[in-house]
Amino acid sequence: MKLGITGGRPLQGEVVVEGSKNSALPIFAATLLTDDDVLLQGIPTLKDVQTIIAILEHVGKRVENLVDGSYRIRSSGQLSHVPPPLLIRRMRASFLVLGPLLARLGEVAVSLPGGDAIGLRPVDLHLKGLQAMGAELEQRDGIVFARAKSLQPAEIHLSYPSVGATEHLMMTAALVPGRTVIRNPAQEPEIHDLADFLRGLGTGIELHSTFMEIDGCPELQGTTHTVIPDRLCAGTYTIATALACGEVFVRCIPWHLRPLVNTLREMGVQIEEQPDGLVVTHHGAGVYRPVDIETRPYPGFPTDMHPPMMPLLALTAGESRLRETLYEDRFSYVKELCRMGADIRLWGQTAIVRGVKELAGAEVQAKDIRAGATLVLAGLSARGTTVVHDEEEHIPRGYSDLAGTLRQLGAEIEER
Ligand code: UD1
Repeated sequence: MKLGITGGRPLQGEVVVEGSKNSALPIFAATLLTDDDVLLQGIPTLKDVQTIIAILEHVGKRVENLVDGSYRIRSSGQLSHVPPPLLIRRMRASFLVLGPLLARLGEVAVSLPGGDAIGLRPVDLHLKGLQAMGAELEQRDGIVFARAKSLQPAEIHLSYPSVGATEHLMMTAALVPGRTVIRNPAQEPEIHDLADFLRGLGTGIELHSTFMEIDGCPELQGTTHTVIPDRLCAGTYTIATALACGEVFVRCIPWHLRPLVNTLREMGVQIEEQPDGLVVTHHGAGVYRPVDIETRPYPGFPTDMHPPMMPLLALTAGESRLRETLYEDRFSYVKELCRMGADIRLWGQTAIVRGVKELAGAEVQAKDIRAGATLVLAGLSARGTTVVHDEEEHIPRGYSDLAGTLRQLGAEIEER
């Protein structure tokens, strides 16, 4: 796929943000906890969603697409304890099926996951937590073999508040009778969404600021759940408006974006918070102030919003700094932005950005989801035409229709 963007068009209108991919994927995995019917709503149309659905179907679920964004998940008999390795390796979130299948079947063999090439991304915290619940684990040829006669509730301390490990352990603990405590869990909005879903299945979950308690049951029931709007897509459209001129209402849950909004406001971006979204207004270029950003787990600045921020920093007079603390390979887009005229130097995990007057269109390559979105955003504000090459179709893994949504706001952008 190739996207051609002609810069300089103002954005105007409203974006209804799609459902969150990072909520939908773990919730689909957690449907393995019950044989009852589950109805999921607000599911985005993404390749990664199709992957998790294919995995569920391989291990014994029937997944029916009802109307746009609604799926009914049913049992089709016995579950299988070997999900297909090729599908598991496609994305990291698919590894989350291990815990629920282990809790249901007592035995499972799951391939180690793949995902975006943004760093090493081990799963040691997932595995240590499962071991604390009594799982016996063995790794051979890239496959994790897990066994447990019966899992036990446990007190687990995460040395890092990993989103995936927190989700994996809370969904597994949901089917383990007794109280499991996770200390130092992730606090991302998607964790709250998964907790709501698990409550719907009948689990007792209390989230506190430094720990969470999960009261598991031996059997869970069906439920209906609507996933939260995607704060990372909402953030992308918010930054896009700050970059191009115009005024856009981004319909979302505003507090989910507060870490990003605080930084944008510090730069001088005008954002008004309403109960059901954000009004972003920008009438003129070159008015922003440089900032220092460090990515952190929630409620810190989100790592996924680091790349899309970079075109804005690149066009802000003065020197900004951005330190990436989660992923070592998040900077794949920097070389491409420099080809468009940005002045960015990398010192280890810190980017030093000197503001330039303008970016110029160029042919650039998308290497992961957010890097792809970043280059599209850069194209919106660049002189001339930018062509973003996305041969491996990274962008559609994170945005159901990035080009169409921006076009509807007035951007000149076409698929080639
Ligand atoms: C999720 C999001 C991703 C986001 C990230 C951080 C999904 C599908 N993806 O990814 O978009 O960028 O949260 O907000 O929800 N780590 C370990 N050992 C582990 C687990 C993680 O060392 O067992 C490290 C990772 O290598 C990384 C950091 O912890 O450096 C953050 O990872 P984690 O919070 O687990 O992110 P994901 O759940 O993979």
